[in-house]
Amino acid sequence: MQLKGKVALITGGSAGIGFGTAKRFLEEGATVYITGRRAEKLQEAVDRLGNGAHYIVADVGSKAKMTHVAEVIAEEQGRLDVVFCNAGIGHYIKFESITENDIDRVFNTNFKGTIFTIQCVLPILAEGASIILNTSMTEDIGLPDFCIYAAAKSAVKSLIYSLTTDFRDKKIRVNAVAPGVVPTEAASGELGRTAEEEARKQKQRALIAPLGRLGTVEDIAAAVTFLASDEASYITGSELTVDGGMTRVFAGRL
Ligand SMILES: NC(=O)c1ccc[n+]([C@@H]2O[C@H](COP(=O)([O-])OP(=O)(O)OC[C@H]3O[C@@H](n4cnc5c(N)ncnc54)[C@H](OP(=O)(O)O)[C@@H]3O)[C@@H](O)[C@H]2O)c1
Repeated sequence: MQLKGKVALITGGSAGIGFGTAKRFLEEGATVYITGRRAEKLQEAVDRLGNGAHYIVADVGSKAKMTHVAEVIAEEQGRLDVVFCNAGIGHYIKFESITENDIDRVFNTNFKGTIFTIQCVLPILAEGASIILNTSMTEDIGLPDFCIYAAAKSAVKSLIYSLTTDFRDKKIRVNAVAPGVVPTEAASGELGRTAEEEARKQKQRALIAPLGRLGTVEDIAAAVTFLASDEASYITGSELTVDGGMTRVFAGRL
């Protein structure tokens, strides 16, 4: 029970990595709030998660909605110990085709959403709270047609350094988990839509040779749980890469 008695918020918790992490947090004794844009998906998720799981409908790109999230948690729990800023979207696009809308969409969810989440819950974060950002191995390797996403995640990564300093008075730890390739619904949709994208997925799989398999949501949830727990009480300003060895061992060989 690594998170016994802790109150946690996971943005984008109705599916994929967020849902898997919510499940693990509950097993570890936390009370968990998940968010997302679709009420029915959230209701379904909370029904599956069971006791201790709550949902609030909120788009991370809206400061008003994230303020509401903080108000609900403040009223029901009085404080927050763990925040997993997980909501995010991937976006493959040829560089020549990038539009203003592509940039806005990817940065709104991944970067602006992370800022608003943290900004809105900051007043209710307990001393010694743990913030975990969801970055990506794509910051460090040149995956083809993925530059906006990689740039947005690099911007998110920079926050672990700035915010560790900004929040030092409350001893709030700020770390990131950088997943490799995890075949969630979104990732499969992005990667498997066309023959070209399916070929890219096969190539990526072949490159995860150190451990020889794609990642699972449980792999990522385990790392997030560690960073959220008191076991990581001397870790802040760090990014934990969970990619089966893909980034460091095969960087740049796509
Ligand atoms: N899967 C991978 O291979 C991989 C690798 C590296 C990093 N990541 C990162 O991991 C995170 C989760 O990815 P995933 O693959 O688990 O995605 P996923 O299966 O599509 O789940 C995304 C979750 O986020 C929610 N969401 C999306 N946009 C949102 C918004 N604007 N406001 C609030 N909630 C929103 C979705 O619900 P609604 O649609 O109902 O809002 C859903 O609950 C992302 O930040 C992604 O960049 C994933």
